[in-house]
Amino acid sequence: MNEFSVAERDNTVITFEQHTLLQQKRYPGASGSFAWLLSGLTLATKIIQAKVRRAGLTDVLGEAGATNVQGENQQKLDVFANNVLLHYLGLRDSVGILASEENEEPFVLKQSADAKYIVIFDPLDGSSNIDVNVSVGTTFSILRRPNDPYERDDAVDLLQPGYKQVAAGYVLYGSSTMLVYSAGDGVHGFTLDPAVGAYVLSHENIRMPAQGKWYSVNEAHLDTFPAAYQAFVGGLRGGALGKRYASRYIGSMVADVHRTLLKGGVFLYPPTADNPQGKLRLMYEANPIAFLIEQAGGKALCGRERVLDIRPDSVHQRTAIVCGGTREMEYFERCLAESE
Ligand code: AHG
Ligand code: MN
Ligand code: MN
Repeated sequence: MNEFSVAERDNTVITFEQHTLLQQKRYPGASGSFAWLLSGLTLATKIIQAKVRRAGLTDVLGEAGATNVQGENQQKLDVFANNVLLHYLGLRDSVGILASEENEEPFVLKQSADAKYIVIFDPLDGSSNIDVNVSVGTTFSILRRPNDPYERDDAVDLLQPGYKQVAAGYVLYGSSTMLVYSAGDGVHGFTLDPAVGAYVLSHENIRMPAQGKWYSVNEAHLDTFPAAYQAFVGGLRGGALGKRYASRYIGSMVADVHRTLLKGGVFLYPPTADNPQGKLRLMYEANPIAFLIEQAGGKALCGRERVLDIRPDSVHQRTAIVCGGTREMEYFERCLAESE
């Protein structure tokens, strides 16, 4: 019997740090630098959540007066969250490249052999909802680059398809703050205990139901969706899967996906007249979500293609996404086949 299992039995609290260290013990030779990288992420998101929690009390609501690379108005909290993540992740020796929704160009920080990770993130997702006290989130995707600095090509190393993610997840600043994470070994949820200041394992090995009862989509754009997507939503509503689905959509992807992951159903942002390529950004929104959904037993597609198979051309490229339980996704694939 090893010491950790005794400690776990005697003490019901397992923190994110303990959990990741235990997972790493399965890989002999792991240096601990990945766990140290993750501690940068947990520290930054705790600082962000503290700011979000006090948002109505301090002068952090509203627009910052600038637009980001996507042409969207930056909120003050977008800027704050971005700076915090850049700072604390940038301090980690193992982080070589950082790319954010809020910065046009990625930051190439280090070329030492240790700097073998790339972190791509959306510092605050759903930020247009902040002023009205709706849940927001942070999404992140972690990639490897070659150990040997001479084998590196920063542009190529950054633009890897999502199936190569070594880890990905999100933090939801909701009624509680929750970190949902996968390193390719199942999906685990950790709730921030504000009394202790630690992310504590609360949802071990999340499996999403094969079928749920909700679809989550901005239905205002329905008449501009491609035919298969219209048929899919219409079918769910009309009882094609044996029940009439209801809708849930808040417009904060992390919150909408979190409900879908835990309760089942489907979340989608199809191509629309305004956003023919879809609206969500592949590398820091769709890829982490697709990774989690697949790890939890669901599927994530862009049309016929797996989101995780898309080869990116640019760090800010957009994609359509449909992700959910296996029954809903089988039905989506049937709608695609029938629309051809
Ligand atoms: P962000 O706040 O990072 O720009 O992302 C907003 C995204 C996402 O959270 C959400 O799913 C989607 O925008 C909502 O878009 P619509 O308002 O078009 O439905
Ligand atoms: Mn976003
Ligand atoms: Mn954002």
